[in-house]
Amino acid sequence: MTTITHQETLIAVEQVHKSFPLPEGKGEFPVLHNINLTVKSGEVVALLGRSGSGKSTLLRIMAGLLPPSQGQVISRGKRLQGANNDVAMVFQSFALLPWLTVQENVELGLEARGVQREERRQRALKAIDLVGLDGFESAYPKELSGGMRQRVGFARAFVIQPQVLFMDEPFSALDVLTAENLRGEIDDLWNAGTFPSKSIVIVTHNIEEAVFLADRVVILGANPGRIRGEVIISLPRSHDRSSKRFEALVDYIYTVMTNPEAEVTGVAVAAPKAAFEVRQSPYAQALPHVRVGGISGLLELIVDQPEGKDDIPRLAERLQLEVDDLLPILDAAVLLGFAEVSQGDVKLTEIGHDFATTTILRSKDLFRQQALKNVPVLSSMVQTLREKRNQSMRADFFLDLLDEHFPHEEAERQFATAVDWGRYAELFEYDAGEERLYLPEPVGVGENAGDGE
Ligand SMILES: Nc1ncnc2c1ncn2[C@@H]1O[C@H](COP(=O)(O)OP(=O)(O)OP(=O)(O)O)[C@@H](O)[C@H]1O
Ligand SMILES: [Mg+2]
Repeated sequence: MTTITHQETLIAVEQVHKSFPLPEGKGEFPVLHNINLTVKSGEVVALLGRSGSGKSTLLRIMAGLLPPSQGQVISRGKRLQGANNDVAMVFQSFALLPWLTVQENVELGLEARGVQREERRQRALKAIDLVGLDGFESAYPKELSGGMRQRVGFARAFVIQPQVLFMDEPFSALDVLTAENLRGEIDDLWNAGTFPSKSIVIVTHNIEEAVFLADRVVILGANPGRIRGEVIISLPRSHDRSSKRFEALVDYIYTVMTNPEAEVTGVAVAAPKAAFEVRQSPYAQALPHVRVGGISGLLELIVDQPEGKDDIPRLAERLQLEVDDLLPILDAAVLLGFAEVSQGDVKLTEIGHDFATTTILRSKDLFRQQALKNVPVLSSMVQTLREKRNQSMRADFFLDLLDEHFPHEEAERQFATAVDWGRYAELFEYDAGEERLYLPEPVGVGENAGDGE
């Protein structure tokens, strides 16, 4: 690919919506809302968003593996119908066939495209060479390390010489060092101008990875998945991680990612954004799935920092936590009013400081106070229990309410998280055997206060 016509639009996603049906005909679950996105030749685009923001779904729609519910995808000027032959995909899970050799795995896609045997062989050998697997042609996947298997994954995509290479979290199943090496090699290959595709779309939830590899980071929000905006990575390639500008971009994106409501103003906003409905029900707000212990643990770490403040990327590094594990904890802390996030820093609020430093009993009080104030699903559950004569309710009742807003499995997880928080705050008790929630006995009132459970 020596001559790249600059700025040629390769793929255009136009007003794409995607919903999946909810179980038992309970309507639709919106996963992508009004997506507008173009991929041009000569650029690396990162799709960055948290788990569940619809990144993989969007990639699958662009690859023609999944039809949009509304809107269309144009690939090189033609409306896409069925599989998109302009793209090849690298998967997180490598997706190799264990009974085929490296060579055979790499040739597979060519065979499907009707390429003759000898040409197949030649092209596969070249692709295998390009990913540094020269000499491993007849090895089987199980004889290779994870990093080598993903090299085969790359070779299999390269050999097709696609217009656009799609990668869905290609490095996240590898150990840190292997991932770092392979990521660097892919970047080198791109920068050398000898890359076997005209552009790259990479899906990731790793902020540093996005800033390192991409020219443009498109930030997706969740519930429903939508484009919040994009950040242009205005750095000379290869992107120098130690530069101030690199750090500033990473910090900026961390801030945006930890403030789901914040506007993404980073240079250019991608698409005309239609207002989407604000969900009113207290059962529509998604709780981050973290345990109370995780929240208090995090706050205790931050409270020890100067000014009760910490840089989020550094915090993630210190804790050896993936962003996807750290962000929900931060979310929960912000939601409960224990912390604030700005410019890549997390800072404890006064209440957060108290919560992190006080006794267990008092911290339960603080948690209860903040939960009732800031977490509508908990206050609504308590309200419902109070209205009942026997102050108790079947779990199903709440699950049904959650089912209206989430796919069933997620509704169950939401329920479990709400119960975990509610029990910690002593807002209610949950009898897992009976599958019932009930209000705790008021302490000191009545005969059996202090009874065991
Ligand atoms: N076939 C399907 N049927 C029903 N729901 C689905 C289907 N595929 C995806 N979803 C839902 O769509 C939402 C987005 O999923 P998707 O896999 O695209 O997210 P993602 O951003 O790639 O997440 P991750 O970072 O975890 O890979 C999720 O809530 C998921 O449960
Ligand atoms: Mg995904």
